Amino acid sequence: MSTEQRGLSGRRAVCPGSFDPVTSGHLDIIERSAYLFDTVVVAVGTNMSKNALFAPQERVEMLVEACRPWPGVEVRLFSGLLVEFCAAHDIAAIVKGLRFVSDFDYELQMAQMNKQLSGIDTVFMPTAAQWSYVSSSLVREVATLGGDVDQFLPPQVAARTAERVRQRAAETG
Ligand code: PNS
Repeated sequence: MSTEQRGLSGRRAVCPGSFDPVTSGHLDIIERSAYLFDTVVVAVGTNMSKNALFAPQERVEMLVEACRPWPGVEVRLFSGLLVEFCAAHDIAAIVKGLRFVSDFDYELQMAQMNKQLSGIDTVFMPTAAQWSYVSSSLVREVATLGGDVDQFLPPQVAARTAERVRQRAAETG
């Protein structure tokens, strides 16, 4: 069945997240979304947590570089409610990757809240088995404690992560 027949023609989807940093698991979801939708907007949340490794603008830079192979993918910062971002950018669906059943509990709650707030639907996409145990928070923890995280990250993100961890270690002594 063609994209037009499925009713997805001209449709814009959002892949929201913190992306601190973007992992190969995120990129797999973004790439597969880019095949299903005409435009995918990768929305980088600007809420800074205390243990953030990268500033929001740095995360955007890394995503822009990593998403270069897919012409239908845009990267933007967002703050506030995701549904308001979706309304402002003419977005028809939210795409969320699901790694395991425990992801589903919280994601379902958010999907239903977002649906109630704005009518927007969420599409759940199973994460590739290869990346099912990978998360940005685990990557940050492993990298900070001296482990090798290169295998979970696109090359330029791996290099910037190693550099940032070195910087942080030098700052904190
Ligand atoms: O990568 P993360 O940290 O799982 O991303 C979470 C994010 C940014 C997608 C989520 O926290 C979010 O949608 N934040 C926007 C604020 C919002 O709309 N909250 C209500 C959700 S029902």
